[in-house]
Amino acid sequence: MRIIDIINKKVENQTLTKEEIDFFIKEYVAENVPDYQAAALLMAIRLNGLSDAETAQLTDAMMHSGEVLDWSYLNKVIVDKHSTGGVGDKVSIALCPILAALGLTVAKMSGRGLGHTGGTLDKLESIDGYNFSVTDQQFRDLVEKHGIAIVGQNQKLVPADKKIYALRDVTGTVQSIPLIASSIMSKKLATGSNCILLDVKCGNGAFMKDINEAKKLGKLMIEIGKKLNRKIAVEITNMQQPLGKTIGNKIEVLEAIDTLNGHGPKDFTEIIYSSGSTLLVLAQKAKDEVEARKMIDEVINNKKAYNKFLEWISAQGGNIKVFEKDSKWFNPQYKQEIIASQSGYLKIKSAIDFGLVAMKLGAGRSKKEDSIDYEAGIYLNKSSNEYVNKGDVLFTLYSSKPINPELQKELLSAIEFSESKHDIQTVFAKLM
Ligand code: URA
Repeated sequence: MRIIDIINKKVENQTLTKEEIDFFIKEYVAENVPDYQAAALLMAIRLNGLSDAETAQLTDAMMHSGEVLDWSYLNKVIVDKHSTGGVGDKVSIALCPILAALGLTVAKMSGRGLGHTGGTLDKLESIDGYNFSVTDQQFRDLVEKHGIAIVGQNQKLVPADKKIYALRDVTGTVQSIPLIASSIMSKKLATGSNCILLDVKCGNGAFMKDINEAKKLGKLMIEIGKKLNRKIAVEITNMQQPLGKTIGNKIEVLEAIDTLNGHGPKDFTEIIYSSGSTLLVLAQKAKDEVEARKMIDEVINNKKAYNKFLEWISAQGGNIKVFEKDSKWFNPQYKQEIIASQSGYLKIKSAIDFGLVAMKLGAGRSKKEDSIDYEAGIYLNKSSNEYVNKGDVLFTLYSSKPINPELQKELLSAIEFSESKHDIQTVFAKLM
């Protein structure tokens, strides 16, 4: 078999066989196929697409390019959730302890943020001592003992995705639905969970800007899951505006805690209930969404969810004293308030601008090597559809460094005021 023949076949829009797909992945990971030939094939895929069967085969080949975790000895439903990335997305930090408090087992690997999107690992790393670089055995021990662990990506899992993703990033081949689906699904399936919720963010702060494209990606990932014997649910959620009232790292952890204690903002709380109930039904812990929502209410009200959060953070080495009432854990040196110059109902038009301002304040990285300022971020004193009076504080910017006054203009260009409320949906669609 020769890679040039496989490239030519895809250029001519023919269907690749399982053997050809396996050959490409195996030889590329073994460095017998150079980047320029892999890039040519990826471009042919981006332009001509893959059938659902080819995408499932590609996912399978990528998933088996490294280790695949097996939790079958626990005899439990292992759940996972994955978000395609957005602004203010702290869902995993609140949702995972809720699921664990309800008896589901969460074994999750998370990534760092890049650019305007935040990463769960960065947020968790803002908690002093939190250790996500654990050995396989430590990961297993945490999951067995506490029913929850969130750790960093294991280097031995899905090496094909690491190589292919880096190449796609610089060859204009990221925006391909079959390549995105196989990248996400190979990683999720290799971690060994059997029930997976995929939160496909949709809007200008997300990869998928268009609802029809987001649905196509969601349906494809469900099909791949079926072919590979896993239960997958997809939620398509709003990323036209930031999620919740906070963007940053420490500030988002605190909002996740407020939500675990029943005091979260409306849109973020709704995503927690929606995603949580979808997973509880998928894992057959609840008979329907109504029962699942009641179960979530119960562990929030009786503090089991918050106590599970403390148990989990502490088991991974995090100092939970920082969450005590008078702690000065979140203590940014600089702050700047943005004041409304007119009255009206607030409309946030652009999540990406909020993400970029948070990044410029120090909350995110523009390059992989950049370090993060855990104090940096944005608090939305006013949310979309709230009535604002001229002179009210709209947003507060935080940083450990002096704040560039120009940033205020960038946020003001991402909002408008109107005389009446507008329609906002938090969850656009659920697919199962
Ligand atoms: N997230 C991934 O893991 N892979 C992609 O290709 C896109 C988003």
